[in-house]
Amino acid sequence: MQAIDLVVFGASGDLSQRKLFPALFQLFIDHHLADPVHIIAITRSKMPRKAFLKIITPNCQLRQDCQTHLAEFFSKITLLQVDVEQEDQLLQLRQTLRPDACWIYYFAVPPSVYAPLVKGLAQHGCVNAASRVVVEKPIGQDAHSAEVIQKSLSSAFDEAQIFRIDHYLGKETVQNIMALRFGNAILEPLWRAERIDYMQITVAEALGVENRGDYYDRSGALRDMVQNHLLQLLCICTMEPPAQLTAYAVRDEKLKVLSALRPITPMDVVHKTVRGQYRANPQQKNSLAYVTEAGVSLHSTTETFVALKVEIENWRWAGMPIYLRTGKKMQRQHSEIVIQFKEVPHKLFRHSPSNLLSNRLVITLQPEEKIRLFLNTKAPGRGMSLDPVALNLDLKDTTKQRRWDAYERLIVDILQGDLTLFMREKEVAEAWKWVDPIIQGWQQWMPTPEPYLAGSWGPVAADQLLARDGHIWHNPE
Ligand code: BG6
Repeated sequence: MQAIDLVVFGASGDLSQRKLFPALFQLFIDHHLADPVHIIAITRSKMPRKAFLKIITPNCQLRQDCQTHLAEFFSKITLLQVDVEQEDQLLQLRQTLRPDACWIYYFAVPPSVYAPLVKGLAQHGCVNAASRVVVEKPIGQDAHSAEVIQKSLSSAFDEAQIFRIDHYLGKETVQNIMALRFGNAILEPLWRAERIDYMQITVAEALGVENRGDYYDRSGALRDMVQNHLLQLLCICTMEPPAQLTAYAVRDEKLKVLSALRPITPMDVVHKTVRGQYRANPQQKNSLAYVTEAGVSLHSTTETFVALKVEIENWRWAGMPIYLRTGKKMQRQHSEIVIQFKEVPHKLFRHSPSNLLSNRLVITLQPEEKIRLFLNTKAPGRGMSLDPVALNLDLKDTTKQRRWDAYERLIVDILQGDLTLFMREKEVAEAWKWVDPIIQGWQQWMPTPEPYLAGSWGPVAADQLLARDGHIWHNPE
């Protein structure tokens, strides 16, 4: 195996503490981080090694509380202080890199630092044709800022060297959607607008903005969740089967979906979008309104909830609505994809409640991992009246193997140079191109978000969005 120097910028930051180092530790325990991998943890300000290890230890211990393993893992980490403005510190990094290794840079830092970082690395001989760079969202605030970020990355790295993370793609449950769609012949003939009435994609979070109020208030749910995670889920649910499971084939198919999204123009926002913001819930203990969270402006009009009616203008999906919904402080954490099939062409069972008669496939992504297919069966003792019953598959019962965390999977792919689960530049650009007019429309027509109670399923307007089409949101019982 080739030697790898994995250089983590922002090593003492929130992402590194919560996700990266615990995932690296898990990979180490499971023998996926072979010997030639050397981790260089970079902090901007000077930090004693002991203090650094102390902050990454608690989350690593949640994976395995074993001092011997932790000590062995820590021995693979070199701690360096690098401020990109400091010439000598960049030179020191250059000297630390092993000449025969593949140098991988993980930018766990705000995007505003990317440009000076890329420039400093390139100028000090830290980038070659084999190097890779890993960047996290947010990749910009709009199409223009995303392009600026792209320009700075591509000044030193080719597209095939850039790994753009959307951690939803690393989730096994999300990859399982592809497995379900393309590994099962019975679904494909049904997977189209002629057979499906509508789809719903919900990513509901019970948590609020936690300690990220400052970032979130400048972002909001549309940029934070929809532009990336929800659109990626939508792509995976609706893309054509790729010819191969390669990065180019899969990403090409996703890009085609993004390019085929029917634009929501600024004039459309009132009919096709809902934006909400949570208020304190007097029924809940210590419930806060969004505007009183730390780091958030008291007069903030940032949305913490979004619902959208989306359409794809292509042969397979024309005319079928896809409803997207995401929010903070919702009733519970719940991510789910609902595929509502059309009714049978002729209703034989007239005595059954009509809303029970069409089949529904429900793919729950988190916190549980379940697939349920609702079929109609005869209700016992009631003549030929039907009741829906679910074929219920709880994926945790199907294997004893531990499911990988998204970051573990993505890090392994980065080390192996596999780009399949990473976004390409055009995907990011297309997604912004579609999202930007919605933001413009909101500024013009919907500057104030609709209130909803913390702990609810979002604003009433979100129910009305579906009611106009004769549908309802499928909330978990
Ligand atoms: C992040 C968002 O990308 O995804 C957060 O910035 C959000 O606001 C998080 O909470 C949700 O991820 P997960 O894996 O907890 O569903």
